[in-house]
Amino acid sequence: MNVALGVCGGIAAYKSAELARALMERGFSVQVILTAPAAEFVRPLTFAALTGRKAITGLFAAEDNLAGAIEHIRVARESDVLVVAPATADILAKFAHGLADDFLTTMYLAFTGRVVLAPAMNAQMWNHPATRENVRLLRERGHELIEPEEGILACGESGPGRLADPARIAELVASGAAPAPRDLEGEVVLITAGPTQEPIDAVRYISNRSSGKMGYALAEEAAARGARVTLVSGPVHLAEPRGARTIRVRTAGEMRAAVLEHLEESTIIIKAAAVADYHRADAPRTKEKKTAARLSLELDPTPDILAEVGNQKGGRLLVGFAAETDRLVEEARRKLESKNCDMVVANLVSMEGAGFESDENEVVLVLRTGEAIPVKRAAKRVIARRILDQVAKLRLALHSSP
Ligand code: CTP
Repeated sequence: MNVALGVCGGIAAYKSAELARALMERGFSVQVILTAPAAEFVRPLTFAALTGRKAITGLFAAEDNLAGAIEHIRVARESDVLVVAPATADILAKFAHGLADDFLTTMYLAFTGRVVLAPAMNAQMWNHPATRENVRLLRERGHELIEPEEGILACGESGPGRLADPARIAELVASGAAPAPRDLEGEVVLITAGPTQEPIDAVRYISNRSSGKMGYALAEEAAARGARVTLVSGPVHLAEPRGARTIRVRTAGEMRAAVLEHLEESTIIIKAAAVADYHRADAPRTKEKKTAARLSLELDPTPDILAEVGNQKGGRLLVGFAAETDRLVEEARRKLESKNCDMVVANLVSMEGAGFESDENEVVLVLRTGEAIPVKRAAKRVIARRILDQVAKLRLALHSSP
């Protein structure tokens, strides 16, 4: 596997040397590309010594100018993954808008493979609407972003902006690069994802902060592992996962109907959705007028879909989720029992930078045997992989039991 490692100009550029080494240790061939400002922070020779390849420093850096002019096409063709770390606000903007004025940006436009971006910058720059918009565009394009970490930044301020740990970046690159094992072939997997919306009136609703990213990552990963996947999704802003059939629903009632409709054919059910627990049964179809008086709403519990599936699961494997703010494993065990699950994926939603809305998660897999397997913080796709590793194991045990 060939990695093109783009390094941009920022204090964090020195960490790219460590990243280059971590990638080499995982068996990648690494071609480093330095932007001109990056070469002010770290010498190309450092990378040449680490990777055994001359670092590319500019469009016309080759001895022969003509060779230099088409070198970016060659690197684009030969690379399997483009990793940019640190990715500055400038490079995110250039990638987002297709500017091509140096080697890295021209190579990016000529490149059709997987792109992993690890930004690092001042927290204000990271939070600026222009950067947020560029990040949104790049994500929409299917690129993977490794969120910067919180902490004291080089500028003395604190906030999100530090380059993610090089070992974490290398781990993400490696996990996505390895072909998924085809260990779910023949399985029919039903996954729920996202929040539900329960109308209060014609224009208002009750919902929660679930982004759907965990369930979508599970759907894509399960399909990559050979399963036939149906994803029942609440309202989210995500592209349909590759290889899965997606059914869009809005309310808990609609989600329940879609799940029950596909239950019979399913062999594995994973309930990652954050179903709203209450709804307004008598929600009017018109918009309610506000008054000066205090308003009380009568709410009824929504159907507990997971518990219902648990009651009629038969030989199916059932995985639930538990979003908790404390007593994580105890609560997960309670839900495992009460909802008749084979596994509960528990996550602390009170943790900064992981869980709801985030691209990353940190979970504990709680099993029937009483085992609680911690999965350390990683991109949701990596977490999805770990969850399905466990699902495949449980499935195998189920098949081989008399
Ligand atoms: N769930 C469901 N239907 C509901 C509520 C929850 O299927 N009406 C499922 C979720 O998809 C998830 C699991 O139940 O897999 C746990 O959800 P959670 O809201 O954490 O559990 P609750 O039963 O609501 O427990 P509590 O409010 O006590 O934490």
